[in-house]
Formats: sequence, C-alpha cells, structure tokens
Amino acid sequence: MKKIIICAFVLLAFACKKQETESFGAAVDSEISEGMPAKDQAPEELGKQIFEGKGNCVACHQVDQKVVGPSIQEIASIYKAKGGDIVAFIKDDAKPIVDPSQYEVMKTNFGLTKAMSVEELKALEAYIYSNAK
Ligand code: HEC
Repeated sequence: MKKIIICAFVLLAFACKKQETESFGAAVDSEISEGMPAKDQAPEELGKQIFEGKGNCVACHQVDQKVVGPSIQEIASIYKAKGGDIVAFIKDDAKPIVDPSQYEVMKTNFGLTKAMSVEELKALEAYIYSNAK
C-alpha cells in the first residue's frame, strides 16, 4: 500500500513538472478561480478571460492584427469559411488550417489547453467566433 502511495506522489510531481515546462506563458496565472466559472457568464466572456488570463493566448494573438500568431479575426473567418473545429484543434485532435508553417509555435500551448475542461475550450472557441468580422 505504501508503495502505491509513493508512486502516486512521484507521478503527480512528474505530471505537474511536465505541464510547467510545456505550457508557454503559464506563469501568468490569472485571478480566475479555477473550476468555478460564474454560472450566468456568457461563454464568450469566459473565453475572453481565459484568452487574456490563464491561457495567455493574447501573448501571440491580437484581435485585429497579426503578431506572433494570426489575429483572432483571421482565425475566426478561416474557421468559419472552412468549417473547422477550434475545440478539436486546441485539444491537439485536428490539423492546423490557418498557418500550418507556424504550427510548431502554436503547438507549445497544447500542454496548457489539453488540461482545460471542455467548457473552457468551448468558451475559447466562442470568444474567437465572437470576433469574426
Ligand atoms: C507562443 C505564441 C502563441 C500562443 C501563446 C498561442 N498561440 Fe495560437 N497560434 C500561434 C501561431 C504562431 C499560430 C499559427 C500556426 C497555426 O496556424 O497553427 C497559431 C494558431 C492558432 C489557431 C489556428 C490554428 C490553425 O488551424 O491553423 C488557433 C485556433 C489558436 N492559435 C488558438 C490559440 C489559443 C486558444 C491560445 C491560448 C490557449 C493560443 N492560440 C496561444 C501562436 C501562439
């Protein structure tokens, strides 16, 4: 029994460490209380909070201009036009369709996004679409 508990601790420590190194910009931990989003909050508002807060997506994605990554507007319109699935993409389940040549840079975020709940991922998607032109 003791062994199992020790194993669990070691695994846990390792899992945390891995996430730390993988998630670019994770240092910006937000004031959002994790796991308890306000019930009456619109998904796109929660998405904006995550985008600018703990997700730190805003470091590379601005609303209307390309910085490191494509603008939110560009992502939204390409996903709309091509019928893409943003949730699947940020879960690392779908291929890039906006700028595959820069995919390696975006990939560094999957450690962080894969740890998010479906609700949070959908909120991010809603926020991105709310900026479609
Ligand atoms: C380190 C910079 C960086 C950060 C931080 C970042 N991205 Fe990106 N993102 C990129 C780059 C570069 C691209 C273009 C490559 C691509 O299209 O895959 C991209 C592309 C995307 C795309 C389009 C993917 C496609 O189909 O081509 C989505 C959606 C996206 N990012 C969402 C997010 C979300 C949500 C976050 C926050 C959790 C985030 N990004 C954080 C750099 C970043």
